[in-house]
Amino acid sequence: MFHPQGPTFWELAQQCLSSTERGYDLLAPKFDVTPFRTPDFVIEGLARCLGPPQSVDDGLDLCCGTGAAIPLLQTLCRRRVVGIDFSQGMLDVARSRLTTSVSATPVELLHANVLDMTFDREFDLAITVGSLGHILKRDEPRFVQRIHAALRPGGRFAFVTSTMPPWWSRRYLLSRAFNGAMHIRNLLVRPPFVMFYLTFLLPDVARLLESHGFKVAVHDDVYPVPFQELRVVVATRK
Ligand SMILES: C[S@@+](CC[C@H](N)C(=O)[O-])C[C@H]1O[C@@H](n2cnc3c(N)ncnc32)[C@H](O)[C@@H]1O
Repeated sequence: MFHPQGPTFWELAQQCLSSTERGYDLLAPKFDVTPFRTPDFVIEGLARCLGPPQSVDDGLDLCCGTGAAIPLLQTLCRRRVVGIDFSQGMLDVARSRLTTSVSATPVELLHANVLDMTFDREFDLAITVGSLGHILKRDEPRFVQRIHAALRPGGRFAFVTSTMPPWWSRRYLLSRAFNGAMHIRNLLVRPPFVMFYLTFLLPDVARLLESHGFKVAVHDDVYPVPFQELRVVVATRK
C-alpha cells in the first residue's frame, strides 16, 4: 500500500482489528517501509537538542519498536541503552538490526508495557519517537510518573510534538476523522487498538510534565519548512 514491500490494505486492516501488541507483531516484518516508522530527519532534529556524542551515561528508548532511535542513543550514551516495547515482533526486528561492534554501546531490549515500568533512577535520558499516540489520555499522568521515576535527578525526557493545528487545517480534520474511526472500531471490536493523533500537544503536555516535577524547555527552531510546526521538548527532572 505504501511501498512495494510494505503491508497490503488487507494486512493493515487485519493488524488494526487486532490488539495494539498483536497488531504490531503482525506489522513488524514490514514496519520499516511504512510511514509509521519515525523518519530519520525527525530523529536527527531530536539528536541536535541532546548534546554531543558520548555525553550521557544511560539512555532509555520508550516504545522503541524496530529501533529507529536506538542508533541515536548508542551515539549519545557511553554506558547502556535500553529499548522497551510490548511487541515481541517489533523487538525481534530491532534485535536483528543492532550494531554490536565491540566499540558500540551495549543495548538491552525489554519486552514490557511502558506503563508498567519500575525503573528507579536508572537513566540520564529517556526518549520516545512516534509513539505518544499509543498512550491514552487517562494514562498520560501514569506514563509521565513512570518516566520521572526512571530518571536520575537532572535526567532528561525528550520527544517531538507540536501545538494543536487550527481546526480548519487538513492535519486537524484528517486526525479527527482518524480518531473518530478508531473510537468506533474500539466500541465494536475487543481488544482495542490504541492509536490516536493530536495527543501530548503543547502547551498541555508542558503543564503535565511540570506538575510531575520536570522543568520544561521547548525548542521551536529545530525543523525547517514544511515541518516547522514540530517542536522538541526536553523535560529535565528537578
Ligand atoms: C509507531 S511504532 C514506533 C516505533 C519506533 N519508536 C519508531 O519511531 O519507529 C509504536 C511502538 O510503540 C509500541 N507501544 C505502544 N504502546 C506501548 C506500550 N504501552 N508499552 C510498550 N510499547 C508500546 C508498539 O508496540 C510499537 O512498537
